[in-house]
Amino acid sequence: MQAEIGLIGLGTMGANLALNIAEKGHDIAVFNRTTAKTGTFFETAGDLREKILPCTTIEEFVQAIRPPRPIILMIMAGDPVDEQIDILRPLLSREDIIIDAGNANFRDTIRRTLTLEGTGLQFIGMGVSGGEVGARHGPSIMVGGAEASYKRVEPVLLDIAAQYEGDPCCAWLGENGAGHFVKTIHNGIEYADMQMIAEIYGIMRDGLGMSAKQMAPVFAKWNQGRLDSYLVDITARVLDTEDAETGQPIVDIILDRAGQKGTGRWSAIESQQIGVPATAIEAAVAARSLSALKAEREAAEQAYGRTSPSVERSDAFLRELELALLAGKIAAYAQGFAVMSGASQDYRWNLPLPEIARIWRAGCIIRSQFLTTIATAYDGASAETNLLMVPAFVEMMQETQGALRKVVARAATAGLPVPALSSALSYFDMYRQGRGTANLIQGQRDFFGAHSFERIDKPGAHHGPWGITQL
Ligand code: 6PG
Repeated sequence: MQAEIGLIGLGTMGANLALNIAEKGHDIAVFNRTTAKTGTFFETAGDLREKILPCTTIEEFVQAIRPPRPIILMIMAGDPVDEQIDILRPLLSREDIIIDAGNANFRDTIRRTLTLEGTGLQFIGMGVSGGEVGARHGPSIMVGGAEASYKRVEPVLLDIAAQYEGDPCCAWLGENGAGHFVKTIHNGIEYADMQMIAEIYGIMRDGLGMSAKQMAPVFAKWNQGRLDSYLVDITARVLDTEDAETGQPIVDIILDRAGQKGTGRWSAIESQQIGVPATAIEAAVAARSLSALKAEREAAEQAYGRTSPSVERSDAFLRELELALLAGKIAAYAQGFAVMSGASQDYRWNLPLPEIARIWRAGCIIRSQFLTTIATAYDGASAETNLLMVPAFVEMMQETQGALRKVVARAATAGLPVPALSSALSYFDMYRQGRGTANLIQGQRDFFGAHSFERIDKPGAHHGPWGITQL
């Protein structure tokens, strides 16, 4: 037999994606640079083995796929992808499609698309979210590249994607880097979501003096309401889990230093690049970087003293925390969607925002009830509309902003860090301020650099009567 599709890279994500493809009835050829891994993968594939062609050389792998060949790369992002493409190129034929399913930087995806243009080969940059379980049983799939190339692999992708009430969470989002860009922003939002949850946890732990065991049911309860989401669900589970060695809540044993592989940072960089503020995402990235400064933080705690529980614990305050998290989430998603809308114009992708919200409803890490509200809200709105101006969200923000204000103020007075929540609040407050304070910035710029300013009462560029500047 010849396989319908091939996959290179049998790490956790690749192996699970291959099993998913095989399980959905598609014959798949697999290859891994370390041959032993291919052997182990095949031996443990059970009944699915009849759908899998394990290959030990790259030549054998290419020959095992029926042309025109779709080949998924699930390998480490960056140079390894370029190296793999270079190895494959001489072995492939016209119309074969290379599909990069890793967490690539969308700029690399655009470059690779351009490099392969004119060679007869096609390139797809595909964001895949959902971690190990998602890859195995249904991830959310964000595709970028030529639409005709997508159409050729669409049947397989729709089969393996997560389903939300019967709708597959997979879509073609635009040319070249569109899919990887959207995956990057997905991860930026993921960072903001996780950071805001962690900040609420911090208030509960250090402000209210709650134990992990006491917090778990609170998050579990929130997961029954408007915060219903995968991340809130796993937060409750993490808080409820005990360390096997010590019997302590595992969260108390885990070192407070968060890793990051780059996609969150790219979201912040790209938002700055196109001039669309994404302050909650930036704060979340910065918080991870600060978390890495463990020794410095410990020294600073010695110098400045430790925050002791000083916030009164009550059901009413826990309710404020829930609403504050919802308000922060609205602002963070508004930022993420605004960045996608801005990039869509800059890169001429025509990103379908309601469709993006729809394919994030299941399979991916930020899946939630909230995304259904976004999808529905965007259906009637133009892609340029900030989520904060969509009627359903105006209403929700009006309801929840007071709680966000109280929680940020309370945290600030108690000395508890809430960088993402407070950035979200300041973004909202600046966004809703008809007359801001940039008039003073303009006055300063004109004073020191004759940069000119606009006036409120007549058109044109003007200068102030500053006189001679004294340095
Ligand atoms: C997903 C995840 C996944 C991974 C990222 C983020 O959507 O399945 O976003 O891609 O978790 O690599 O990882 P870091 O937190 O290490 O940056």
